[in-house]
Amino acid sequence: MDSSLSVVILAAGAGTRMKSPTPKVLHTLCGKSMLALIINQALELSDDIHIVLYHQAQRVQDMLQCEFGALLDSTLHIHIQDVDRFPGTGGALRGIESKHHRVLVLNGDMPLVRSSSLKTLCARTEPIVMSLFWLQNPDGYGRVVLDSDEIHTIAQANPPKNPKVLKIIEQKDASAQELEIRSVNAGVYVFDRDVLTRYIPRLSNANAQKEYYLTDVVALARDEGVAIGGVFVSEGEYMGVNDKIHLTKAQEVLLARLREHAMAQGVMMDMPHTIYIESDVVFEGECVLENGVRICGKSVIRDSHIKAHSVIESSVVIKSDVGPMAHLRPNSHITRTHIGNFVELKSAHLEGVKAGHLSYLGDCEIGEGSNIGAGVITCNYDGKAKHKSIIGKNVFVGSDCQLVAPVRLESNTLIAAGSTITHNVPSGALAIARTKQHNKPGFFAKFFGKTK
Ligand code: UD1
Ligand code: MG
Repeated sequence: MDSSLSVVILAAGAGTRMKSPTPKVLHTLCGKSMLALIINQALELSDDIHIVLYHQAQRVQDMLQCEFGALLDSTLHIHIQDVDRFPGTGGALRGIESKHHRVLVLNGDMPLVRSSSLKTLCARTEPIVMSLFWLQNPDGYGRVVLDSDEIHTIAQANPPKNPKVLKIIEQKDASAQELEIRSVNAGVYVFDRDVLTRYIPRLSNANAQKEYYLTDVVALARDEGVAIGGVFVSEGEYMGVNDKIHLTKAQEVLLARLREHAMAQGVMMDMPHTIYIESDVVFEGECVLENGVRICGKSVIRDSHIKAHSVIESSVVIKSDVGPMAHLRPNSHITRTHIGNFVELKSAHLEGVKAGHLSYLGDCEIGEGSNIGAGVITCNYDGKAKHKSIIGKNVFVGSDCQLVAPVRLESNTLIAAGSTITHNVPSGALAIARTKQHNKPGFFAKFFGKTK
């Protein structure tokens, strides 16, 4: 960690283009909000991180409390922007007192940026360092005007090492000619603290959006001879998310990274592009994921085979096979277990169990050697509260049984198919709870008046 670096993350904007009641920075990619993703990277670089909020600040603060509670006030500092008087990315930096003399400023809507590439930017020493990239379609970004000897209207395969940055023009303020510029502002900057102190109060809002643009600091400082360093970065890492199309694109990039990371750790994948995994999922040993699998939350998958179109949420799967089309809902924990198609688990702890077909096993514990027949249902909810089913070792539950919880099936018991079990079953017993079958000879002909 660079102890001489402070970080400011701009997260106060309304995010109008998202067309959503959820504040932009709380939109998630692979289960993590954009803001949490960028804070995690910032934490690898600095012990002094300032987060600027305004729109739905309370909701954002609640997320911060929940995910980073222990760091609030010590490492993470929340500021509320005075948006009424000073709207815009420049307004967001007013009144922020950083601990260190170098300040890395990040837009909060850049969820793909990694600390490793931010370090390259931070290694530069100019009083202002800014990031830019080339785009065939620069729509939506601020255009970076480079010195005239650099051709900046054509996206370059090999961008210049030290581009001479003159100024940044926001899309809404650009002339038709300026709109042709394909070098765009990526939205990450490193400033000397003194530069911010000097130029932020001098920004004007005489522009199309009537906002104080942080980007105008570049031209102001340059006119007074301040050196500006430009660093070309990749769009794949620095793209800004302003609408739901961007969000989907950014999530694809993050997913590709997560899948590759998992494969590098020994996970085999059929048709990887159809597999969705979240950032907190941990794979151990050798695992196989078939096409269409979705694994969310803090799940751990060890030495297991997850078959096509299964969904696993915040659960632990060890030496087991799941699916196809099975659903493990949160807090399930299975070891040496076979879960077949159309089986749903919720808060279920299974060890050495077979549940092959069409079951709901919720709020239950099932022990070694037990077999759960097709269509078995734990009736865990009575309309008011949830109750547990405890199933011991070597229990054979026949097909189409309902276990009305709370209920306990002791080890070494047999439950006859089609039973509705409402009482505990003692060890060694057969429980049968269904009406007796009566066969009525000749009834068919009597009923239909003919023999078929
Ligand atoms: C901004 C840049 C643009 C750049 C692009 C890169 C400015 C004026 N423009 O444009 O040059 O190409 O990012 O993605 O900086 N925010 C605040 N307070 C505000 C307004 C915004 O904190 O008053 C925050 C937002 O929450 C967001 C970030 O600043 O996280 C950027 O704001 P956004 O409105 O997305 O700016 P862009 O139009 O993308
Ligand atoms: Mg943006």
